Amino acid sequence: MRKIGLLAIFLSLALVFGTAGIAEANEVEIFSWWTAGGEEDALLELIDVFEENYPEYEVINSAVAGGAGAQAKAVMITRMVGGNPPDSFQVHGGAELMYTYVEPELMRPLNDLLEEWGYMDNFNEEILEMSTHDGNIYSIPLNVHRSNVLWYNVDMLEEHGLEAPESFDEMFEVFDALQNEGVTPLALGDMNRWPALHLFETYLAATLGPENYNALWEGEVGFDHPGVTEALELLDRTIDYVNTDHASLDWQGAAELLVEEQAVFTVMGDWAEGYFRSVDWEPNEDYGWTTVPGTEGNFMVITDTFGLPVGAPNPEGAEAWLETVASVEGQDAFNPVKGSIPARLDADRDQYNVYLQSSMDDFSEDALTPSIAHGSAAPEALMSSFEDVINEFITDRDIETTQEQLDQAASEYF
Ligand code: GAL
Repeated sequence: MRKIGLLAIFLSLALVFGTAGIAEANEVEIFSWWTAGGEEDALLELIDVFEENYPEYEVINSAVAGGAGAQAKAVMITRMVGGNPPDSFQVHGGAELMYTYVEPELMRPLNDLLEEWGYMDNFNEEILEMSTHDGNIYSIPLNVHRSNVLWYNVDMLEEHGLEAPESFDEMFEVFDALQNEGVTPLALGDMNRWPALHLFETYLAATLGPENYNALWEGEVGFDHPGVTEALELLDRTIDYVNTDHASLDWQGAAELLVEEQAVFTVMGDWAEGYFRSVDWEPNEDYGWTTVPGTEGNFMVITDTFGLPVGAPNPEGAEAWLETVASVEGQDAFNPVKGSIPARLDADRDQYNVYLQSSMDDFSEDALTPSIAHGSAAPEALMSSFEDVINEFITDRDIETTQEQLDQAASEYF
């Protein structure tokens, strides 16, 4: 009996270690936070293209739930710093990539790979720039998201005889009209904190204009600017119109309020479009969109990219994954489902719906402003301080103190 027991233990150990050995060669671990409606569907499309083109590999999908990486980012940093990176991971182009991963030398430059694949000139330059440091490209841009979008339920707006607002005055008039009829005007889901900052940054872009907004992140305009006061005043007014349970919902929960006819508007990045589609909502029939008032001609930009960590367990597998991310085929499989537009210039426009085509047009003409809430404009630590300050503001609504706190936090960096 005893001998059989020992043999069984030996055999299972051999099996476990044997399998792990084989698995390492074939498996490619991909880390992201894409688990919500639309997000996960898009990721699975991309994984399908990868596994079809590289049948020798199998993806281990290590997604950690929580919009905008609310939980995933901390897990990722711990893994990277602890020397336990995945093969490739989702990271925002801009400050998040640079300060968190490139500066501490945790990423491998990818210029040689882009040259080898012949893709060097296929990307939008401004987007590729967000992955570039000292001439080295550290991640492959998969998409371009827009954050300053005001989404609405088309039927509800029509039922109340209202139209999508084009200015803040109009917005508050429409909000008043809805509220008087017992309808929640604006859905917010700030359980994960960033959606409040997301809303605020769109107001900042509106009151400051693209030039001054961008100058904030160069330290050329301070947070004591009157445009910041104005943005806080607008946010203060807006809070009177949001759903009472906003602190217990995430972004998807807020978007769902529109689908369930419990609220009319929500301000969210266009991953919300991916979510609407995942519940079979049709553009212009079920959901409509416009830019957040005051931000027409301004494209608040976010790019999701994938990089190759130093010490990735399966670098060949990671390279194959990155080639898929960089390819037209990969981008055209992922983006029409995700609610984003491709980072490549030569994607097939016909595969994108009416909303995404309008986003492509705006992107090519508009002023670009990077998002704070999604890591492009400022380092992680500043973003996190801003999240604290703005979430506190949602409760205490103290404009003066909040502005001072923003100014204080920013002055440590710029
Ligand atoms: C953003 C990310 C998007 C989407 C969104 C919500 O930060 O860039 O791709 O995933 O978060 O989770």
